[in-house]
Amino acid sequence: MSADRPAGAVPRGVGHDLRGASQLVAERGCMLGRPMHLLASVASTNDEAKRGAREGATHGTTWLAEQQTAGRGRQGRTWASAPGESLLFSVLARVTCPPSSLPPIALVAGLAVRDAVARAVPGAGVLTKWPNDVLLSGRKVAGVLVEAITAGARVEAVVVGIGINVHTRAFPVEIEGRATSLALASPSVPPDRATILADVLESLDHDLHVVVGRGLSLVRARLEAADALRGRHVRNDSGDEGIASGVDDDGRLLVTRADGVLVRWGAGEVHLVEQA
Ligand code: BTN
Repeated sequence: MSADRPAGAVPRGVGHDLRGASQLVAERGCMLGRPMHLLASVASTNDEAKRGAREGATHGTTWLAEQQTAGRGRQGRTWASAPGESLLFSVLARVTCPPSSLPPIALVAGLAVRDAVARAVPGAGVLTKWPNDVLLSGRKVAGVLVEAITAGARVEAVVVGIGINVHTRAFPVEIEGRATSLALASPSVPPDRATILADVLESLDHDLHVVVGRGLSLVRARLEAADALRGRHVRNDSGDEGIASGVDDDGRLLVTRADGVLVRWGAGEVHLVEQA
């Protein structure tokens, strides 16, 4: 493994459908994904990106790995995936914003992934699950981990880490009932990770600036159309329940309680409550 390999170089062990990723992203003309560090194996691409940020990496620099040995998920969970099966990458965005912009950034990152997955598997039901999971046919196909680099009370940069299950055909027994992949959804057409990556980066490049500059208003309609929870009975880890009713301007989940009061959930995990 070399996390210090020059951007653009393709190390051994990187799959064929990623080898042209750097060029494809450059052809799209967006700022994100340039330069791109393609790595065979690394502890966590988010950690690489945070290290890069400290060392002066520029806006858009992206770390993409075939394998993570210590991949991280939200809320201290691990993110495990077999080598070569997933799209695992982290983008450094040098945006200056208040911490309240972080949930909206995570929401549009999830939306970018949703749109890219939907394009790769036409006709499949691909939705976002607040705060930033992506579901394919009701099962998790991707997750987003946004981490901030702060200076005092301001955010100076964000690392957007994304993991998408692409070629995976079998999951560990603990998650097999909840997880899926593009390959399982579309067995006859092998998904191309470079194209999915370029689609995500292009969309995120646009929406990141929109959201940092103007908040969620301009993407609200797309968020609502993609919302797997809207109108569904949900419960959080504290046992609070209600009907999911969209998101507010700060990216919090709006929930209508049984007594009609609209409340806002700011963090944590949300579960669908099965109706009898
Ligand atoms: C979640 O659903 O809990 C978020 C998962 C985020 C995983 C990605 S994989 C690339 C990047 N590097 C990490 O260590 N985590 C994110």
